[in-house]
Amino acid sequence: MTGSVEFQRLPKTVVPRHYALYLHPDLVGLTFTGHVICDLEVKSQCSTIVCNSAELEVTEVTVTDANGVTQRPAVELSAELETLTCRLQQPLAPGAAQMRLKFAAPLTDKMRGLYRCKYTSPSGEERFAAATQFEATDARRCFPCWDEPALKATFDITLVAPRDRVALSNMPVSREEEYPGRPELRVVHFATTPIMSTYIIACVVGEFDHIETTSDNVCIRVYTPLGKGEMGRFALDCAAKILPYYKGYFGSAYPLPKLDLIAIPDFASGAMENWGLVTFRETCILVDPVNTSTARRQFCAQVVGHELAHMWFGNLVTMEWWTHLWLNEGYAEFAMYLSTDYLFPHYKIWMQFVSECYMGALATDSLRTSHPIEVPVSNPSEVDEIFDGISYDKGACVIRMLHEFLGHEAFKRGMNLYLKRHQFGNTFTEDLWAALEESSGRPVRDVMSTWTRQTGYPVVRVSERREGTTRIITASQRRCLADGKPDADDQMWMVPLSFSSSQSPSETIHKVILSERTTEVRLENIGPDDWVKLNPGAVGFYRVQYPPEMLEQFKSAIATKVMPALDRNSLVDDLFALVQAGDSSTVDFLRLARSFVDEDEFTVWSCLLSSLRRLWPLLQHTEMLEPFHAYCRQLLRTIHKRLGWQQREGEGHMTTLLRPMVIAHLVSFNDQPTLAEAERLFRAHQEGTGTLHADLRSAAYRAVLKRGGKAEFDMMLKLYREAEMLEEKNRIAHALGSIPDPELLTSVLEFALSDEVRAQESVFVMISVSANRLGHELTWDFYKRNCQILCDRYKGRLLAQLVKSLTEDFTTEERALEVEQFFVEHPHPGAERSILQSLETIRLNAAWLQRDRQALSEYLAQCQ
Ligand code: BES
Ligand code: ZN
Repeated sequence: MTGSVEFQRLPKTVVPRHYALYLHPDLVGLTFTGHVICDLEVKSQCSTIVCNSAELEVTEVTVTDANGVTQRPAVELSAELETLTCRLQQPLAPGAAQMRLKFAAPLTDKMRGLYRCKYTSPSGEERFAAATQFEATDARRCFPCWDEPALKATFDITLVAPRDRVALSNMPVSREEEYPGRPELRVVHFATTPIMSTYIIACVVGEFDHIETTSDNVCIRVYTPLGKGEMGRFALDCAAKILPYYKGYFGSAYPLPKLDLIAIPDFASGAMENWGLVTFRETCILVDPVNTSTARRQFCAQVVGHELAHMWFGNLVTMEWWTHLWLNEGYAEFAMYLSTDYLFPHYKIWMQFVSECYMGALATDSLRTSHPIEVPVSNPSEVDEIFDGISYDKGACVIRMLHEFLGHEAFKRGMNLYLKRHQFGNTFTEDLWAALEESSGRPVRDVMSTWTRQTGYPVVRVSERREGTTRIITASQRRCLADGKPDADDQMWMVPLSFSSSQSPSETIHKVILSERTTEVRLENIGPDDWVKLNPGAVGFYRVQYPPEMLEQFKSAIATKVMPALDRNSLVDDLFALVQAGDSSTVDFLRLARSFVDEDEFTVWSCLLSSLRRLWPLLQHTEMLEPFHAYCRQLLRTIHKRLGWQQREGEGHMTTLLRPMVIAHLVSFNDQPTLAEAERLFRAHQEGTGTLHADLRSAAYRAVLKRGGKAEFDMMLKLYREAEMLEEKNRIAHALGSIPDPELLTSVLEFALSDEVRAQESVFVMISVSANRLGHELTWDFYKRNCQILCDRYKGRLLAQLVKSLTEDFTTEERALEVEQFFVEHPHPGAERSILQSLETIRLNAAWLQRDRQALSEYLAQCQ
């Protein structure tokens, strides 16, 4: 547990300027040793030096002053604060000094610090590679260092590696030599890095193939597992095009001489932006022309775009402290849409932004347990916890809103100014606002602070009056809360309001900032039958609540699709939020949803289906489940018929994405013809008489298991064991939870924790069991029994995601109390906010079900 000793940032009396770091991982003994020489600057006379170190055995510490006088300080390690303190006999005078240390530690399988990764060689032998993951606070698990983003330094890195292994770090190799007396080893020296933060340092030693290209004089390589070089081609092409694009967009060239992208077999997150050596989970970079689904392929392009944006936003200019993490992640998330749109305009990625990013952010941020984008954090587990939907998705949403507000050119100029002014330095959120304010002459700081310093966002309530052809709109704001209860804090935002009308549905006819509680807007030349809508394109981070008369006017524009997709989309989503809040009823929503049977836009379906999925936990243990499934099947019938099972030549990318989404949902809703056809396609594929497109495999595997028993289960396990590609393995593993047999579900849970499933994937296998009605309770019990093992195995995001998914679908107050009690008895540092959010969601579910149960039950019965 953390917390009994107060966490503090490192003192700035002594700061690092340069590190010479030497690391020797032993891939057989599974330990590593190393030493580091830190060139220091002593800012004021001092007799202690404090830096970070965690889980390292540190030996032979010496400190040398500017006159070459060396002393051996007393060294104290604090496991709790993760610090190393040197107490000097002779104080150091201001000026230069040097500290040397030796250290050693095991190469653990915890996927942080310098850790081991297991892989199987082409000859079938089990082997280990070593890789690093330092963000946010784990560089200190590899070497003693000043492990804070603001304490930048330059690095000379040296790796000892077996002669026949690849050894990589941030910079290119400067020279190599044989390891004295051990010809099987070599010593690899890398060129000096630019000044940079510790969390983006990286090293990898292992067996990899690579492919390469050059773009803008930068050598770009993609490293893959042996024999899979070509699977790196897609990412390589993306990277080669993105670098010059970002150079133009950010106004400066990529500053390092090389860029490596590497697939790491054991990897906790999706990807990590180490400068010059970006590490990826295999499924976020490897693309196979036949076996990768369309959605995965798109995602790989996005991940590359996201990580490469960090080369500027994050690596060149870095947040001063983790409170400003969103400057990294929110911005990279935004930039990834820009770059993906540039590479693949037919992806219509900005439309997907709304369903993928914007709607989730609005949902999370309506919880009372959400947090401001800029959030004070101190200890490492608090830091881990803010890599969440608020920093990423809400962060990207408010940047998109600002981008729209300032216009592309002013935005870009301001951002270029920011990067230029702060390159190789550190920033606060304010620094970005200052640059954008200078470039645009607009009150960026005042407007944006209301979005980044407060939790939540507003719902804007509107009403209209008519005076001839003038439409007078009254708009007022209050905080949008999931439970619909009033907000005690009376918060206000500076809300960039925008308006469209039926005369030109995709154009903004008026813009104004709502900076008070209420404002009145006069719109001229609006015809008597025209509708007026707020927030066209769903760019503003707020919801709108219309009076019934205004909603009524939208109806035909929705049905005829005269209203643009994103606007139809946000009407549905805003209405659903009102339903959750109890301001409208679930039955109203289901009625409205039926008017979308002819809908064919991916984003609109994505939004409708995620609302329906949100209802599922409320109904899963009630008699309403089957009638609800019947309702959903009915809703999807027309679009399913229209799309069929086969991709058609020349169809749009969004259609290609929509088909598997529709089929997967029909499988979830137990649509018998769909289950049968999916199984038929699967069997044909197995027998070699047909092919099952990668896009349909997930759904087909679930269909087979849903209809199956032990035989199908064993067959799927066999396929899992034979699968070469991680993406394919995952598809199978995530389908296992669909088996309708409690005993087999228990074996899926055990399988999830076995050696056969990589630690980073087992969380999702457990979640798949929990998503099965029959496995829900089972998984939670399993979690409680194995809590200690799981907590040791996962720190950070994976654990938070797991406990949230396993608990948030409960629907009673008793459950809320039980879950609450469990976590009081078993503290989960790093998952605390997720647990609070889960509890809040359970209570929302309980109130919601109670409120709407009767009416829903009647409505669903009558639908049949
Ligand atoms: N910097 C993060 C990786 C990270 C996440 C490090 C959490 C430490 C803790 C990286 O840039 C990132 O955001 N990765 C994403 C993938 C991306 C495409 C959204 C991830 O891992 O989910
Ligand atoms: Zn990121």
